[in-house]
Parts: sequence; C-alpha cells; structure tokens
Amino acid sequence: GTPVRHIAVVGAGYVGGPTAAVIALHNPHIRVEVLDKDQRRVRRWNSPHLPIHESSLIDIVRVTRDGASLSSRDNSNVPTDRLPNLFFTTDSQASLAKADMVMMAVNTPTKTFGIGAGRATNMTTFDAAVKEVALYARPGTIIVEKSTVPCGTAQRVRQMLDAVRPGTPFEILSNPEFLSEGSAVRNLLHPDRVLIGSAKTPSGRRAADALASVYAAWVPRSRILEVDAWSSELAKLVSNAMLAQRISSINSISAICDRTGADVDEIARSAGLDPRIGPQFLKAGLGFGGSCFRKDIASLTYLAESLGLPEVAHYWSQVNSMNDWQRDRFAHKVIHRMEENLVGKKIAILGFAFKKNTGDTRESLAVDVIRVLLQERPGEIAIFDPCCLSEDIMRELEPVLDANNRERVHVYTDAYQACEQANAVVVVNDSDPFKQAPGRKLGKSNSKNASTEQQPFETNDMAKEIHIDGSRFSYHPTQSPICAEDCPDCQSTKSRGTMSIEPVEWARIAYGMKEPRWAFDGRGVLDVSEMEKLGFRVDTLGRHTASRDFN
Ligand code: NAD
Ligand code: UDX
Repeated sequence: GTPVRHIAVVGAGYVGGPTAAVIALHNPHIRVEVLDKDQRRVRRWNSPHLPIHESSLIDIVRVTRDGASLSSRDNSNVPTDRLPNLFFTTDSQASLAKADMVMMAVNTPTKTFGIGAGRATNMTTFDAAVKEVALYARPGTIIVEKSTVPCGTAQRVRQMLDAVRPGTPFEILSNPEFLSEGSAVRNLLHPDRVLIGSAKTPSGRRAADALASVYAAWVPRSRILEVDAWSSELAKLVSNAMLAQRISSINSISAICDRTGADVDEIARSAGLDPRIGPQFLKAGLGFGGSCFRKDIASLTYLAESLGLPEVAHYWSQVNSMNDWQRDRFAHKVIHRMEENLVGKKIAILGFAFKKNTGDTRESLAVDVIRVLLQERPGEIAIFDPCCLSEDIMRELEPVLDANNRERVHVYTDAYQACEQANAVVVVNDSDPFKQAPGRKLGKSNSKNASTEQQPFETNDMAKEIHIDGSRFSYHPTQSPICAEDCPDCQSTKSRGTMSIEPVEWARIAYGMKEPRWAFDGRGVLDVSEMEKLGFRVDTLGRHTASRDFN
C-alpha cells in the first residue's frame, strides 16, 4: 500500500500526546497533527510547560515540535537538520482532511446514567469524534482506535461511517495502548507488544500493514501482533483486568494479615518468587486508582452481562468490589484508631495522585478516604501533593464537598505546613519523597530524573544537547514558544514538572505534630520501625507494627 504521510491524532491527552510525540520522533517523514477541542490544553502543548508530566516527554516534544539537528550514533560528525513534524491544533477540519491515518485517542469514561450505568462505556465523546472524522476525512483514510473501547466498536465505527458517507471506503483498526502513566515515554519507546486488530479482508490486512510500518520504525517486528479487531479490543480489557485482579487478590490477603499478625509483604515476596506468579503488581495497599483499571473492568463486566454470562460478570466485578472495600476498610481503620472521634482534629493527607510519578488526579484513591473521614467532621483535612495542581485536586474532590465541610479542606504546597499540628498523617500514594528513611536531611533529592525537564526554556541562545534512546540532538532554545498567561505551571510557586521532589524529613514532621502522632500508611512505603523510633504510632494494611491489635 501507499506509505503513511499524514497522521491526525484526535485527543491530546495522556495517550494521544505522548503517542503522537514518539511516532513523530521515529518517523521524521510523517507529519503528525494532534487535535483537541480544549483550547487551553492545545496552548499548553504548544508551550514549554506541557499539560502532562512524563519523564523525557519534553525532550521528545522539543525535537519533534520545534525542530533540532540530529547527530546519530553512527555518523556523529554529520548532523542532519530535523524540521518540525509534530503539531498541536484545534483546527480538526483541516487536519482530518489531509490525514491518511486518524488515531482516535479521546476519553471513554464509564457511563453514569441510563442502561449499563456504572459499567458500560460512555461513547458520547468517542462517537462525536467519529462523526467529525466521517464528515471530513478523505476516502480511504485508515481509522485507528487508540482509545480503550468496548468490543465490537470497530463494527460500530464502520456503521457510523456508512451512515454519514455511504459507499466511501474506510478501514478501521484496533490498536489499544498499553502505556502506564509515569513511565509513558519508556513504555512507548520500548513496548512489550503492539497489538493491531483488523478485518480479515485484503484491504483490512493492507491497513494493518500500513500501521505496522509506522511502528516498525522503532519496534521490532516480532513484537507487532496482528489479530482480528474483536480479539484486539478484548485483549486490552483483559490485560488491565488481570493486572488489577492481582492487586485485589493481594489486598484481600492484607485483610487476613491484619486479623492474624502475618505480614503481607512477606507473603507477596514468597508468592512472587514462583516464576509462574512473578513479583510485579503484588504490592498491597489502598488499591488501584487511575483512569483505566476500574473503568476497564466495569466494561468487561458489562460485556459479560450483555452476552448473558452473569457468572463471568460477577467474577470480574469482584475485583472492583474488593478494591472499594479495601479503601473503606483503611478509612475506617483510621477512624477506629483515633478513638472514633475526629472532631476538631487535623489530618494530613500525603499524596493525592493515584500513584507516584504522575500529577494525574483522576480516580485518586484519596477522594474516597477523604469522603469517609469528612463524615466524622474533622477540624481540617490538609492535602499535600507537589505533583498535582491545586485546581485539579479541588475539582476531583468536588463530589464529596458540601457547604459544611468545604472550608475544612485545604491544599498545601509545603509538607511541613500540611502536617503542622496534625493529629495524624495518612500516606495515600507511593511517591518516593514519602518513602525516604526518616531523619534524612533535606536538600538531597535522590530522583534519577533531576533534569531540566519542564523548566521554562533557557533564555540564552546556546544550543542544548538532548539524548533520546542513543540519538543525540542539538536543540536551539530560542526556537521554542513561550507559555500563555494562564499557564498553571508558571503561576505555581513549585516546579512540579520533574516529579523529583525533595524527600520529606519525617523527624521534622514528627516534631510539628500532636501526640499521639499517628501515621497511617496506605501504601506500604514507610519504614515502620524507623517511624516508631521517631515516636510515631503506625498502622498499615497487612504489615507488622508495634501497635497492631489484630482487628
Ligand atoms: P484524556 O482525557 O487525557 O484525553 C482525551 C482528550 O481528548 C482530551 O484532551 C479531550 O479534550 C479530547 N477530546 C475529546 N473529544 C474530542 C474531539 N471530538 N476532538 C478532539 N479532541 C477531543 O484521556 P487519556 O487518559 O489520554 O485516555 C484516552 C483513551 O486512552 C481512553 O480510552 C483510555 O481508556 C485509553 N488509555 C489511557 C491510558 C492512560 O494511562 N491514561 C492508558 C491506556 C489507554
Ligand atoms: C494501567 C496499566 O498498567 C497500563 O498497562 C494501561 O495501559 C493503563 O492502566 P496506570 O493506570 O497508569 O496503567 O498505572 P499502574 O501502574 O498500572 O497502576 C494502577 C494502580 O494500581 C495505581 O493506583 C497503583 O498504585 C496501583 N498498584 C499497582 C498497586 O496498588 N499495587 C501494585 O502492585 C501495582
């Protein structure tokens, strides 16, 4: 078939932005345009402060969006100029009209109303984007589902296209994304696999091959799997469901540990040493948050339900139920340990993002914990997460706030102020700064990524070297655009971008707290005996502590 020259990516989010950047990096001859309806988001993608924070992403965006000269490993003395080939725009009509491939990377949340509420996928956004493609795309354009969608969506898209443009040929591919937030660039540069689902017709196979060639620019062919569309769509849901299932399984065991005095980390280690089980995704804690696991299991559950398989639906829905229960169990543990009286007490929440190395607040585990705590009318809930924007935290909390409790919830940009005079600290995510051995001195960040990432671009005219995956690029800072006035990163006093934040000094936190200094570890990240030496009373999920009372 004809090679791909223009790719339009619909949706400049966590998936669309980084995916487009890596495709553009490895395919300098392809023009990649990323479309979003959200003007502010597009402005931020076109500035030094990107709307999402992923290690090395800014380097790749600098090279692809702003242009650079490249000196490759092999002929390092002959730099070649790289013209910009990555663009972010709100002008969808123009981009769609010239694309020979359109990647759909819009959000596909769970439906909150009507048939299948709480389980089925809300296809409103996806359908609207498909309609736009149907209106403006050229005949023969290859449409790629990057979003995680229900099984059968490829057929649904085909029917929608037929309705708007009867008789026009379009090919539809499923190409689900497996990246994790916090390691998106690494996952995209070195994917375990690239899955391409297509119709098993000659034109379907040709389309799949065209997409495979885009990936083959950097992914070994043996990792590119071509399957049918249904299998591809289902495989995505299954991968997430099975990862989440491991977390719920180990969390169920943490509850047994809390009743018996066994230690869940030791159990996970022992089980994980069996190579058939493996050590990953066995960390007990508050459970899984984030925008994918809960939603994709709900979708799998709904699929089973619609196929008349209630036992299968029930089996998978238990993974989500266990996850909810674990959070509830933790919040009630906090209340119980504090004599079932939070009135007038201050509780500090360390970490709000759903995991470390991300500023993403969607499906934060903190929200449910805070909701339960607020019912006990504490004096203050003090939240600290230097990776997150305060406006994002407050938006996420909105559903649990009301006129009575709103003024009790505050976001702090300093860990020590958040914990000052607190009766308890609750560790909600596994960020490295919370993990540090207590007593560690401030000022020494141990993050591997203390680069200039996300700092506003240098003001001088010196070329800067960027290394990406063995290639060396020379980049001229003056080529880069500047931030808009409403850039939240410029307005914030903290630099969130590097995600390399100072470790917290637990001794200093202990000093400012009220007795008995409670530390509740929702992630298994604290060194319990060290914390106890500093005068904390520690409770965890399924781990040994001095004050454990087996109930
Ligand atoms: P996101 O909300 O970060 O990004 C989606 C973007 O699409 C938003 O910026 C939104 O404004 C834009 N958009 C919506 N409708 C549009 C339209 N008609 N035209 C142009 N832009 C439009 O979502 P995300 O986290 O990137 O997820 C996207 C999809 O990828 C979802 O289906 C998700 O399940 C899947 N996925 C996400 C991850 C992840 O880690 N976040 C990983 C794998 C798969
Ligand atoms: C997940 C999948 O890993 C990725 O492949 C898919 O494309 C999108 O969904 P993500 O949600 O970004 O990625 O993060 P992940 O690292 O999978 O963690 C999800 C949640 O599980 C986090 O809240 C994390 O803290 C939690 N988790 C993870 C545990 O509680 N224990 C573990 O052992 C691992």
